[in-house]
Amino acid sequence: MITSTPRRRRRAWSTIAAVATASLAATTALLMSPGTAQAGTTLGASAAESGRYFGAAVSTQYLSESGYANTLAAEFNSVVAENAMKWDATEPNPGQFNFSGGDQLVSWAQARGMKVRGHTLVWHAQQPGWAQNLTGQNLRNAMTNHIAGVANHYEGKVFAWDVVNEAFEWDGSRRQSNLQRQLGNGWIEEAFRAADAADPTARLCYNDYGTDSINAKSTGIYNMVRDFKSRGVPIDCVGFQTHIAHNENLSTYQANLQRFADLGVDVEITELDVGQGSNQAATYGTVTNACMAVARCTGITVWGITDKYSWRDDNPLLFDGNYQKKQAYHTVLAALNNGNPGGGGGEHITSAASGRCLDVPNQSTTNGTQLQIYDCWTGANQQWTVANGEISVYSGGSKKCLDASGGGTANGTAAIIWSCHGGANQRWNVNANGTITNAASGLCLDVAAAATANGSKVQLWSCTGATNQRWTL
Ligand code: G3I
Repeated sequence: MITSTPRRRRRAWSTIAAVATASLAATTALLMSPGTAQAGTTLGASAAESGRYFGAAVSTQYLSESGYANTLAAEFNSVVAENAMKWDATEPNPGQFNFSGGDQLVSWAQARGMKVRGHTLVWHAQQPGWAQNLTGQNLRNAMTNHIAGVANHYEGKVFAWDVVNEAFEWDGSRRQSNLQRQLGNGWIEEAFRAADAADPTARLCYNDYGTDSINAKSTGIYNMVRDFKSRGVPIDCVGFQTHIAHNENLSTYQANLQRFADLGVDVEITELDVGQGSNQAATYGTVTNACMAVARCTGITVWGITDKYSWRDDNPLLFDGNYQKKQAYHTVLAALNNGNPGGGGGEHITSAASGRCLDVPNQSTTNGTQLQIYDCWTGANQQWTVANGEISVYSGGSKKCLDASGGGTANGTAAIIWSCHGGANQRWNVNANGTITNAASGLCLDVAAAATANGSKVQLWSCTGATNQRWTL
């Protein structure tokens, strides 16, 4: 059958991911002995282990700041321009394109082997003044000319475009933007067809916020995507911005991603940030776990690097104003590693007496923090790696080792975390009978007073054979 659809050179993400995973697996096999698990130590590397990307929105003005650039280069493997590829930035006057900011970001990313997402071709906001005033066919021509100019310029340089951004209302109806009022219901389809013609290789996404559950808005978008797929309108992916609060109800978040994936599109978390609060880290973890659990969730982008440059004022990002990793960072990294088909790097160490897990209180990374037992969860503060006699938690620059405090050999010596140094007080034997003994003292890892409650302290004590000294990895 002959169709009018342009020849599609766009490859399905699943194919790309499979190739990437296969090649990674081959490389990994050369580097690792059989049976060892490998955990990535950066967000990008950990995401890549399952064929995904982990990106950040970037303001090019900050690339000259070393903390900003170094964190971006070290931790992420994808970027998106926070503002530089929007309509007002790229076409300030009709037909006069300015790609300076976007090109700067693309060059910076390419030099470091990072992927680039495109954001955004058509949006009711950030339109240049001249476009806001257009009507009817003039606006239609301006929209399609804009798409052609920008998408063609970046062909081969961006792997995906947010073709249309934020075109739906909360009730699932179309937003009454100038585009909707002037061009009618068909404008989104027209935009996707124009983008497909301008860049047949990039994956073409619809992107929106407030779609963090199965609700009226996400259902309106779902119905549009289903219609597009049934009629062959070129759409490849749906972006879920995920600007959320720390206590957001995410009970249907994963199911929502999955129902879109089941339509035959990829899904991406495109602008993730989570307001500060007691559940910030856990909520980041829930979103990451949801993406990892949906095969067609191809990657996650956070909307900025450091809290100090976020568009929000509630410290919603993974790095604080000094580029220090927050608890949320560790939780996301652990979630990415748990989703690794290779088994991830961390594992629970569970107390036989209580069924509770060896835990670093409050996800602290401070030397000297005494360990406790606590209800098991997916957080990084319970993900232990046992290797070469060392038992460690966290990764990269945050890595800490299980340590007999002060090299103590007396009963009651605290079990703490400390920077790893290979000393005998950080060397442990994991024994067949379930005990974990310190190489320096021969004492057993022990839950103090044989307690079983959350928060019970962990120490060293003469081995007794009791269940408060038995652990399961
Ligand atoms: O750079 C100018 C500065 O020179 C000028 O003096 C100042 C006056 O207000 O404005 C500055 O530009 C601002 C720009 O951010 C750079 O800081 C714009 O006013 C401001 O509107 C713009 O805000 C951006 C917003 O989108 C609107 O484009 C935010 O940085 C950006 O984070 C935000 O991102 C959006 C996504 O594109 C779509 N989804 C929601 C998300 C958050 O709102």
